[in-house]
Amino acid sequence: MARPKISLIGAGQIGGVQAQLVAQRKLADVVLFDVVEGVPQGKALDINHALAGFQSESLVTGTNDYRDIADSDVVIVTAGVPRKPGMSRDDLLETNLGIIRQVAEGVKANCPEAVVIVLSNPLDVMVLAMKKLTGFPKQRVFGQAGVLDSARFRFFVAEALGVSVRDVVAMVLGGHGDTMVPLPRYCSVNGIPLRSLLSDDEIAAIVKRVQGAGGEVVGLLKTGSAFVSPAEASIEMADAVLLDRKRVLPCAAYLEGEYGASGIYMGVPALLGAGGVERIFELELEKDEQAQMQASIEHVEKLVSGIEL
Ligand code: APR
Repeated sequence: MARPKISLIGAGQIGGVQAQLVAQRKLADVVLFDVVEGVPQGKALDINHALAGFQSESLVTGTNDYRDIADSDVVIVTAGVPRKPGMSRDDLLETNLGIIRQVAEGVKANCPEAVVIVLSNPLDVMVLAMKKLTGFPKQRVFGQAGVLDSARFRFFVAEALGVSVRDVVAMVLGGHGDTMVPLPRYCSVNGIPLRSLLSDDEIAAIVKRVQGAGGEVVGLLKTGSAFVSPAEASIEMADAVLLDRKRVLPCAAYLEGEYGASGIYMGVPALLGAGGVERIFELELEKDEQAQMQASIEHVEKLVSGIEL
C-alpha cells in the first residue's frame, strides 16, 4: 500500500515546518507547493537530507506545479501573507482572498477528493471561501485555529501551575481573532477544575493572554507571525484524518444552526476522522459564554458580508 499523501500549499514559515513534522512523524509523503520558484524545492531537499537522521521514508517533493498535488489525501493551506506588528488578522483579508481563489482552483482541479485544512488568515473567512470556491462538502473543508488557541491556553495554565502541559485540558471556541472564546469552565488539569486551582483574576489574565498570544509573538518576531505552533496544530489535525483517530478537537467548522449560527465557519468542538469533520458537539454555554460566542459570530458574519465569492 502506498504511503498517504499530504500536500502543503504555501512553503513559507509554516509550510516548511509542517513538511518537517510530517517527515519526522513518518505520517505521509509530502508535496510542498509554492508560487515562488526554488523555495519549495530547496526546503524539500533540505528535509530529505534529514530523513536518514529522522529514520523516516516520508519523501518531500517541492513544486510550483499544481499537477503534483494530484491524489492527495489531505491538503493544508497556508498560502498567503502573514501579519506584521500592529496588524490584525482581518487586515490580511483582501490579499489573502485573492490567493485563496487561486489555491481553490488548483485543489479542485487536481485533488477533488481531498480533505482540506485551511490556516490562512483571517481564518474563518478564508476557510469559507475555500469551501464555496471548491464546492467541496462541509465535512472536507475546515480550519485550524482552535487546536493552536487551546494549546496556548494549555501552556499558560501549565506554566502558572508548574504542571505538565500534557495534563491540561482546554477548549477555545469562536472565531480566530480577538473575539475568540476561551472557556475556563471547560478547562481542567486532568479532571481537576481550573477554577479550583487558580483565582478568578489569575484565570482572567490567562484568558486575555490566550486571546492576544498570536499578536504577542508577532510583536516579538517583527517579521512575521507564529509558525512552529500553527504547523504542529495542523499536523495533529491531519494525523487525526489520515489515521481515522476520531479525535475531539476544536476546529473551524461550517455551521448550519449549531450555536445559533448558519452559513459561516466558527471554532467549535468537532470529531475528526477519515471523513474530516464527522460531528460537531454543541456545548451548553452559560449566559456570558453565549454572549461572547454571539459577539464572535457577529464579527465573522460582518467580515464575510464584506466579500464576494
Ligand atoms: N499560491 C501559493 N502560495 C502562495 C501564493 C499563492 N497564490 N501567494 C503566496 N504564497 C506563499 C508565499 O510565497 C509564502 O511562501 O505563501 C507562503 C506564506 O508563507 P509566509 O509568508 O512565511 O507566512 P506563514 O508564516 O507561513 O503564514 C501563512 O498562515 O497563520 C497564517 O496569518 C498567517 O495567513 C498567514 C499564513
